Amino acid sequence: MICNIEDLRQRARRRLPRAVFEYVDGGAEDEYTLGANRSAFERYLFRARALVDVSTRDQSTTVLGEKLATPLILGPTGLAGLVAPWGEVLAAKAAANKGALFTLSTMSICTIEEVAAAAPPPLWFQLYVWKDRGITRSLVERARAAGYRALCLTVDVQDMGNREKDRRNGFIVPPRVTLSNFLDVLRHLGWVMRMSRSPRATFGNFIETGALPKKDAVSVAGFTNRQFDPSVSWKDIEWLRSIWSGPIVLKGISCAEDARLAVEHGVQALIVSNHGGRQLDFLPGALDVLPEVVDAVEGRAEVILDGGIRRGSDVVKAIALGARACMVGRPFLYGLAHDGQAGVELSLDILSKEIDRTLALLGRPRLADLDRSALRLDMLHSQ
Ligand code: FNR
Repeated sequence: MICNIEDLRQRARRRLPRAVFEYVDGGAEDEYTLGANRSAFERYLFRARALVDVSTRDQSTTVLGEKLATPLILGPTGLAGLVAPWGEVLAAKAAANKGALFTLSTMSICTIEEVAAAAPPPLWFQLYVWKDRGITRSLVERARAAGYRALCLTVDVQDMGNREKDRRNGFIVPPRVTLSNFLDVLRHLGWVMRMSRSPRATFGNFIETGALPKKDAVSVAGFTNRQFDPSVSWKDIEWLRSIWSGPIVLKGISCAEDARLAVEHGVQALIVSNHGGRQLDFLPGALDVLPEVVDAVEGRAEVILDGGIRRGSDVVKAIALGARACMVGRPFLYGLAHDGQAGVELSLDILSKEIDRTLALLGRPRLADLDRSALRLDMLHSQ
């Protein structure tokens, strides 16, 4: 029986070859930050109010002016199309059906155009800056032409995080059968059959660019470290402004200083994120960073919390601490592995039902009723 996101995770573990599941599920190095993203939520307990009329509840909101039925954004996840064929298209359609927002990764299997043609707006496009600025510019132009609403620049991949599980599994793109994964692939023939319906098994946005080697498979780290530009700095935000007129969202902010700089550079929204514990290990849990960022921003930009959301109550805590909405990565990928588009919709239903119930039991029926007084900040902090 599937009651919660952890149940979906167990289904995903069974359905995916080990290398694909661990690519999704794992984090960097000792996975301290991966765990901290979860444990941060345990540091906040609720202060519930009784005898409040909660017969009508409302978790709708707006993010950069887009109306959402639930404060959830599907985060950019590279290679989602290896979890299920047409994975990015299915997830984008699921988000639209459930009134959530979908963000397409630069490193997707389905292309910018394929996703926009299949799923209704609003869509966001996540950008990595390539050493070859011609490629970067063309990605931005393609996103504009396809109608993506906002550009989400990820700023925490100066070098690929050290994901030892991927290295041990020899995770490469396109995936190949080798002596060491042969038995595991045999046990997951269902996945092999499903993937035969996939349009491709590599980074779709770069097929035409010549950036991908023609014959060889690549490791994610090898490919990205060759292509991503580690010299990117604040002045590049101005360059981006000159080629993109819509909103710019920065993903990967983890301290007050950068939050202030982001606002000074005219960024419309920023995402408090440690890349789901996949980049710099020993960053604190994202929720632990949220209050300092919200305070630094002082309402001059929207703040989104990303990392570790597994329950609707997690979303409620983040919003009480000042987030406008929450981004989720793995939860929807587990759903995608379990049952394609229906599985992603199930993951969103689980979270939004839990949000609804939490709002009722907390005596705060609308998101606008949430503030820090809904939480006990003192109890566990002082231990
Ligand atoms: C990611 N993430 C990510 N972020 C990004 O900006 N560009 C990307 O291409 C990817 N790729 C990616 C792949 C996979 C498999 C995962 C799990 C994650 C990070 C993602 O957007 C988000 O920050 C985290 O997933 C949030 O943490 P949770 O919700 O997974 O705990």
